[in-house]
Amino acid sequence: MNHSDDVKRRDFLKGVGIAAATSGIVAAQEGERTSPPPVSKQPARLMVRTTLTLNGKKKSFDIDSRTTLIDLLRENEHMTGTKKGCDHGACGACTVLVNGRRVLSCLTLAATIDDDQVETIEGISNGESLHPLQNAFLRCDAYQCGYCTPGQIMSGIACIEEGHAAKSAEEAREWMSGNLCRCSAYPNILAAVRQTAGAEAIRDPAIQNPPMTTEMLP
Ligand code: FES
Ligand code: FES
Repeated sequence: MNHSDDVKRRDFLKGVGIAAATSGIVAAQEGERTSPPPVSKQPARLMVRTTLTLNGKKKSFDIDSRTTLIDLLRENEHMTGTKKGCDHGACGACTVLVNGRRVLSCLTLAATIDDDQVETIEGISNGESLHPLQNAFLRCDAYQCGYCTPGQIMSGIACIEEGHAAKSAEEAREWMSGNLCRCSAYPNILAAVRQTAGAEAIRDPAIQNPPMTTEMLP
């Protein structure tokens, strides 16, 4: 390799370096031009006033317009009897009554039921006396983990009021089908609802199946 070859190679490498650096700057400038504008960290909030009659007591709430009824109950009011299962309207765990009709509180914006009557599991007993359907759930052993139970009971109350529970077991099952139970306590839930509706004789599983004693053991 002679001296002139070496000079040419150095010139070439220098040229490549400048080109690479220049294209980097251009790319950076392009990036600046095409990148989206910075997003504000604070989402727009619209506060609204909602008044509800909650288990018989009228109350006003200043809430974000996006607040769901279940979040209003659980987060604002600390009424944790109403359960959040899926938060997508699929399981029924969050069922409450609005003006006597069952609704999924995870799909209901609190601001949309202004001035309405809301009844939750906390409001159905009469002081120390349980609601008849609560008693039936105990009697029929209609729960295992109990997570779905508040929603089942609120749905069951509506199902009885609507007249579906008394008509037939099939109809009661159909109208309770929006409430899922991952413990599969369905036969006992159905029995509790039907017995409370007066459609089935009251049966006490504890009487039919007395607790085991040591004499019963093989
Ligand atoms: Fe509302 Fe599941 S939590 S339907
Ligand atoms: Fe466990 Fe129904 S009792 S989910």
